Amino acid sequence: MTRKRIVAGNWKMNTDLQDGYTLMKEIVSNVHVEDLDKCEVMIFPPYIHLKTFINTINGSGLVLGAQNCHYEESGAYTGEVSVPMLKSVPVEAVILGHSERRQYFNETNETVGLKAEAVTRNGLIAIACCGETLEQRKADQHFDVVAAQVNEVIAKVEAGNTDKLVIAYEPVWAIGTGVTASAEQAQEMHAHIRSLLEVRYGAAIANEIRILYGGSVKPANAEELFGQPDIDGGLIGGASLKASDFLNIIRA
Ligand code: PGA
Repeated sequence: MTRKRIVAGNWKMNTDLQDGYTLMKEIVSNVHVEDLDKCEVMIFPPYIHLKTFINTINGSGLVLGAQNCHYEESGAYTGEVSVPMLKSVPVEAVILGHSERRQYFNETNETVGLKAEAVTRNGLIAIACCGETLEQRKADQHFDVVAAQVNEVIAKVEAGNTDKLVIAYEPVWAIGTGVTASAEQAQEMHAHIRSLLEVRYGAAIANEIRILYGGSVKPANAEELFGQPDIDGGLIGGASLKASDFLNIIRA
């Protein structure tokens, strides 16, 4: 098993260009070569920052990504950004189907699947998000909800492109709430997701696909979460906006 860990910072709709640049500089100048030996570090700022940040990130070994994209290559989709546009920046990764996009922007399992196909086919890394709400967990539907989300993505991503596929399990009740899934709850769901990957692609490929945990990851809980056998790193929201917290999570 050769899964290299990932720590990814999702800045969401935070920071103007100046504040974002300062934060980016602080992260880039404090990440050590030894950190990057053990883990891939990815930053997902707002779209408008990407072109500026390419120069900041150049040669640092960090990966720059976008928080969303459209699945069509071009056309009459006012306000949208396509995968070839991101590639031309060049951006290397895209977060897809974050629960906030599902909740506020009507993203469905189907559109997330189409996006995952377009991103991986174009050679960018897709971080496809899944996760249940508190009501769904209370009703004992969490495994089925996550299976429906993940299955739609993996039905569309070809076996030959799985080196570009990353799954992020983010229980909605843990995002931005300060409530983290316990290491056992997270591991149990990650093992479930890996079993879905195995059904689709076989054990060898399933064992190579990284599955990240997201939802109130902090320096204090990162080590325990990342110590679980099927947790290959984290997608970090709030704590990625403070360079010292983000760096401490990388070191965990
Ligand atoms: P959080 O967000 O770390 O602030 O809970 C995680 C995410 O939404 O990706």
